Amino acid sequence: MTRHATSPFEGQKPGTSGLRKKTKVFMQPRYLENFVQATFEAIGGVAGQTLVLGGDGRYFGAEAARIILKMAAANGAARVIVGQGAWLSTPAASHLIRARGAMGGIILSASHNPGGPDEDFGVKYNMGNGGPAPETVTAAIYALSQEITEYHCLDVDDPDLTVVGEAQLGMMVVEVVDPVEAYADMMETLFDFNALRAMFKAGFRMRMDSMCAITGPYAVEIFERRLGAPAGTVTHATPLPDFGGMHPDPNPTWAHELMAEMMGDDAPDFGAASDGDGDRNMVLGAGIYVSPSDSLAVLAANAHLVPGYKKGLKGVARSMPTSAAVDRVAAEMGLVCYETPTGWKFFGNLMDAGRVSLCGEESFGTGSDHVREKDGLWAVLMWLNILAVRQMSVAEIMQDHWAHFGRNYYSRHDYEALPVDQAEAMLGDLRARFGALTGARHEGLIVESADEFSYRDPVDGSVSEGQGFRILFEGGSRVVLRLSGTGTEGATLRVYMERYAPGPDGLDHDPQEALGPIIKATEAIVGIRNRTGRAAPNVIT
Ligand code: G6P
Ligand code: ZN
Repeated sequence: MTRHATSPFEGQKPGTSGLRKKTKVFMQPRYLENFVQATFEAIGGVAGQTLVLGGDGRYFGAEAARIILKMAAANGAARVIVGQGAWLSTPAASHLIRARGAMGGIILSASHNPGGPDEDFGVKYNMGNGGPAPETVTAAIYALSQEITEYHCLDVDDPDLTVVGEAQLGMMVVEVVDPVEAYADMMETLFDFNALRAMFKAGFRMRMDSMCAITGPYAVEIFERRLGAPAGTVTHATPLPDFGGMHPDPNPTWAHELMAEMMGDDAPDFGAASDGDGDRNMVLGAGIYVSPSDSLAVLAANAHLVPGYKKGLKGVARSMPTSAAVDRVAAEMGLVCYETPTGWKFFGNLMDAGRVSLCGEESFGTGSDHVREKDGLWAVLMWLNILAVRQMSVAEIMQDHWAHFGRNYYSRHDYEALPVDQAEAMLGDLRARFGALTGARHEGLIVESADEFSYRDPVDGSVSEGQGFRILFEGGSRVVLRLSGTGTEGATLRVYMERYAPGPDGLDHDPQEALGPIIKATEAIVGIRNRTGRAAPNVIT
């Protein structure tokens, strides 16, 4: 019997990046099954199709993969390509979908959220272009999940995902592949591996912190095996179901071991970390942290030095809350720079249409049109290739960049797990006061305008409204406020602050100090501390 009666669960509404819930919610009987069946139907069925499947190694991932395989077989799929052990990083999954011409793929991950029986799990569908499903598809998945009456699943033994090779599951072929190989091969086509090998041979020291998550095996293969970095360059290199208790989010707060090493005596030349599913990155040099917005700008300014981008970039894009550092590079290089809402999926259309080749977000995501996801290890290789060509340290590259383009001081303050009503009321009040804000003076800053960002996709004309509150001050400083779309507990308020310093003086301040007046003006206007009772943000990036 392959048909199983079921009834809807509330709240199966995919957010910024798939459906994310507590693992125990996903482990309820029929919960995963309902969502996957709704997904298969929302994409028009999978009969005769090829799909890609894999995830970041977190708790419940392999079990979920085995259920999904039996469901794909019962729904008539012809073939599912699955990473060995149900492992695939998000960018590697995106690459496989594209390289194998699959209909799409399912990624099992809650990205940078912790994993384990009491933590988070997630399921995300990516389309045939390798990128996250657009809102039309996620809305259809949700609608179908709310009226579902049955799902299909083969009643057979679990498929074995431990051995590479093909096996039959009912009428469907399960193809278990090495999760790393195709991805590592693609990286060799984009970067000058000979130059990188020579750099490591000459004593270049790097630390890659994979945070017990999926990039471990990829990083060991690429940096240690193919590029000759010393064994042990990659730390926390084995993916663990609970990420060894780490919070696999590569930012200064959560990647604190790496931060301490890079800010300490005898720091390596270069440091990097990645998140649970391998699409985010944080980069550092000895004694210097590179903000994601600055990293994007540096990559844009130097991309032509890297073999895969030597013909130049088609255009660049950043999410609205990301700093305008890359805009300055684009202006000088005569490139179009698109400003999109938060969420990688908005970049996909621009890449598919050939309008941009480099994209980035303040949330530690950078990538290019080699896949349709952001790509943590790709960003690390971009930096390494640029360092190898320019023969400068990370700190020297940053100083040189700021001296030329000026510096966009930038920081994000997060207030996590706020009561949803409280957070919404606070932003609702702000919306109601927009008109009155213009011209107001706080901390010596005059409000020039205040609005809510909306985006019209230049490719398909779709409009996305309510994408974040912007308060612009005279002189180019600004603050952006929005609620996170990826949290699983209450509401997370993100406050993004930016101030431009043209130089040549004033380029080497601490960002929190440089942004002091904006932080105070934001408090005066929005009253976060007053209304939430929080003395300080939970995370500062
Ligand atoms: C995921 C998406 C990113 C996005 C980020 C924002 O990582 O893949 O594209 O920038 O979420 O998360 P937030 O919690 O701010 O909505
Ligand atoms: Zn991620």
